[in-house]
Amino acid sequence: MNFKEKIEASTQARNSKIVLALDLPPQKRELLLNKATEILENVEPYVCAVKINRHLVLPLGLFNDLQKIVKRAEDYGLPTIMDCKINDIGATNRVVAQHYFDAGFDAVTANPFVGWEQGLKPVFEAAKKNGKGVILLVYMSHKAAYEGYGQTVKTESGKLVPQYAVFAEKALKWKADGAVVGATYPEKIREIHQMLREEVPIYSPGIGVQGGKIREALNAGARFLIVGRSITLSEEPGENAKKLRDLANQV
Ligand code: XMP
Repeated sequence: MNFKEKIEASTQARNSKIVLALDLPPQKRELLLNKATEILENVEPYVCAVKINRHLVLPLGLFNDLQKIVKRAEDYGLPTIMDCKINDIGATNRVVAQHYFDAGFDAVTANPFVGWEQGLKPVFEAAKKNGKGVILLVYMSHKAAYEGYGQTVKTESGKLVPQYAVFAEKALKWKADGAVVGATYPEKIREIHQMLREEVPIYSPGIGVQGGKIREALNAGARFLIVGRSITLSEEPGENAKKLRDLANQV
């Protein structure tokens, strides 16, 4: 089963489109590990995957305490995504991706800005060899996203198009396992979804704290909703995750 099939099976089996972004503010290492473990335990019945960021990798250490979290997610049957936004030269990218795959992650995120040859090609090769996935950034959710992802660029044939459309085409051509498009821009989700259709599922972050709405994102074509602080910083992460899951299932 490749990553795309794995997360699709998980979303069906668990009846949830929510990907937990297990992000926590800086705190003492032991507290962080305990808190992250506790949140995962409470939230796991309501999500289809777990996304980890440097919030945990840096303080806990990839081959150290973080592996306890990755292993626990695996024991729950949850696919894991490392949101490392790979963005360097190919030789470095390959090493970075391989470390995350060796640590047990099922997929990594990457930035298509660096291109294919000596860019992301080695990442896709490493993913294929290891049976893992690559999710590309296509349009981010923050306010300044238009400065990069929204700029107008000239294609090789001289046509003027938005940068995100070029990235969506790359996602198709490179057979990416997913495309990140911010929930804060449902019109971009709609446009990009029309290009990607069911071939490349859209992962949509920016729900809640950043103002993105579940209904709008799903109606526009998002397949998965990435949610962090609305769950992790709440008093009752499990209850909130359940509410978000139920809301998504009503759409
Ligand atoms: P929150 O707390 O805003 O966390 O629910 C979102 C998580 O997703 C990561 N991420 C992004 N977040 N726009 C985002 O808002 C993006 O384009 C994006 N790409 C990834 C973010 O780092 C956090 O872990």
